[in-house]
Amino acid sequence: MSDSKKILKAGLIGTGSSATNIAETIASLDIVEMVGIADVNVDGAKSLAEKYNVEYITKNYEELCKKDNIDFIIISTPHALHYKMAKCALENNKHVLTEKPITTKISHAEDLIKVAREKKLKLGVHFQCRFFGAVKKAEDMINSGVLGKILQVNVSVMWHRPHEYYDGSNWKGKWDLEGGSSLINQAIHPLDEMVHLVGEVKTLFGLMGVKYHNIETEDNTAAAFVFQNGAFGTLQTSTATKAAFPAKLTIFGVEGGLEIDGNILTYHKADGTSEVTDFTAGGQVGSAKDPKLFSLKAHSALMEDFCDAIINDRKPTVNGEEGIKSLKVVRAVYESNGEKIIHL
Ligand SMILES: NC(=O)c1ccc[n+]([C@@H]2O[C@H](COP(=O)([O-])OP(=O)(O)OC[C@H]3O[C@@H](n4cnc5c(N)ncnc54)[C@H](O)[C@@H]3O)[C@@H](O)[C@H]2O)c1
Repeated sequence: MSDSKKILKAGLIGTGSSATNIAETIASLDIVEMVGIADVNVDGAKSLAEKYNVEYITKNYEELCKKDNIDFIIISTPHALHYKMAKCALENNKHVLTEKPITTKISHAEDLIKVAREKKLKLGVHFQCRFFGAVKKAEDMINSGVLGKILQVNVSVMWHRPHEYYDGSNWKGKWDLEGGSSLINQAIHPLDEMVHLVGEVKTLFGLMGVKYHNIETEDNTAAAFVFQNGAFGTLQTSTATKAAFPAKLTIFGVEGGLEIDGNILTYHKADGTSEVTDFTAGGQVGSAKDPKLFSLKAHSALMEDFCDAIINDRKPTVNGEEGIKSLKVVRAVYESNGEKIIHL
């Protein structure tokens, strides 16, 4: 159903668990409406279209990309499909907002960035955690110099996924479709926060393995690295441990440290005291046990930012150049694989 007050029109490819959050987000915003849905799963497309009054559905994403009355295409499909779908949308002169990761291959992400730039189209990546209050406050604190010189950074993502999570999916746990697992899927949000707050990685040694699940891809990783600014970093990820420890990013400088746990920020001061700021305001921001437990506040902020970028012809905050940074770390860990040091 068309609502003339809405400014932008979006088409959605994929109607799985993440797309439901995206559809709900769009329905709550004045700036954008969803006018078309594509999914090979017709039942999924029909039920989402009925729920959100979307008239046009198709099995074929290329048809959605060709439709005239669409400003931008949102991609919420298996990771390895992001590239061809985003490319198709850009070639049909549609702006693109793709779910994370931007793609599974660096060369694919670089190509999308190039095509979007040449065609003067917006390319956004759905890293909604960048809009968390905790991340924004951490950014302000780091920029103000309160931590002093950054020395040590750690990303830890122990988000258990049971066997059924992989067994019930036709793409998760497969190299050619998911492109990895615990690192490229679950840990990529804190990893994106890390490269956003600390900068890009220069040199890395990584480990990965399948320790628990019956999958091709990794369910455990670890890495040690050096950032371009000279700070040291480590990371640990697991979808195997049932401990369900919260995802954490810690950043320590000479003068103090920060710990970002979801949307809660702890500032460890030089005098030994600490200050906790809880930005969750009673809502969940992400869950160690259940991937569907997300507050949509950050989703809304990201969607509004992307729409504003189209309307005011500026780059989205999480654009292609930003979105590729975490993928570079992911690919380096996989390439390193306990055998070689990677110079990014
Ligand atoms: N930003 C977040 O917090 C967040 C959370 C969960 C998932 N995700 C991301 O969202 C994306 C989708 O993940 P999901 O968990 O929703 O997956 P899912 O398996 O639940 O849904 C994927 C959907 O894509 C559809 N699809 C597959 N091939 C297709 C094709 N050729 N054409 C059209 N549709 C096709 C499937 O039918 C399915 O409906 C992934 O990139 C994932 O990493 C992001």
